[in-house]
Amino acid sequence: MVDDNQFALITGTSSGLGYEMAQFLLEEGFTVIGVSRRGTNLEHPQFIDILCDIKDEAAVEEMYELIGNHTDKLHMIILNAGIFEMSPLIETSTKEFADHLTTNVVGAFHILKHSNDFLVEDETHIITVSSIASRKGLANISAYSASKFALNGMIESLREEWSHLGVRFSTLMPGAIATPIWDEGDMDLPRDQMMSVDDFMHVFQMISRSPKHVQFPEVVFLHKKGLFK
Ligand SMILES: NC(=O)c1ccc[n+]([C@@H]2O[C@H](COP(=O)([O-])OP(=O)(O)OC[C@H]3O[C@@H](n4cnc5c(N)ncnc54)[C@H](OP(=O)(O)O)[C@@H]3O)[C@@H](O)[C@H]2O)c1
Repeated sequence: MVDDNQFALITGTSSGLGYEMAQFLLEEGFTVIGVSRRGTNLEHPQFIDILCDIKDEAAVEEMYELIGNHTDKLHMIILNAGIFEMSPLIETSTKEFADHLTTNVVGAFHILKHSNDFLVEDETHIITVSSIASRKGLANISAYSASKFALNGMIESLREEWSHLGVRFSTLMPGAIATPIWDEGDMDLPRDQMMSVDDFMHVFQMISRSPKHVQFPEVVFLHKKGLFK
């Protein structure tokens, strides 16, 4: 259990990994602020649900105003919200390509840019849910891969920029995990080659409980059957 009054902000709690991380951190004793467009169906006295499209900077500023009614400290910030669609590059619309960048990179930029007043020196842990696709290009995911490579670049730069604050940055780069992200469109890939949400949580729990002086810049993990061809 964590000390009283520890706050965690998680983007993308309405589904998948964000929902599971929220549940786990509530069990650990955090007050969890969950952010999504649809809202999060999670009943818990220490869960605060905020509807926000992270692509919209003004909405993110409003989100921080709402958070300010509860706390001025965020001990953990989890950049998790993201979109993923598969298509060959020549069939990818400019809008689809831009949507990946606007959600997966610019959305995270908005969250970080306006987090300043809530950072706790020598304490805040910023955990980014990137992807193995941020390290290795795979066929038919050029938009997603471009967005996750860019996300890592932003985080690596900010780790240097904010080093004087003593905040720590950890970045998870998982392979495929069976979550609803795979339900959209034409992405019927074999689930037995994907990790489970429990597999992901095994890694997340270790990182979230790690000593305050330790950060994990690149945590790559995947199913032993390897990546999709
Ligand atoms: N599942 C995998 O195979 C896998 C592998 C590697 C990395 N990841 C990464 O893990 C993260 C979570 O994915 P998941 O698998 O849990 O997918 P998911 O079940 O589809 O969840 C995605 C979450 O992101 C939120 N979101 C998307 N756009 C948003 C926006 N503009 N504003 C606010 N929230 C937004 C969604 O909420 P709303 O729709 O309600 O807004 C949802 O809660 C993503 O960053 C993904 O790239 C996933």
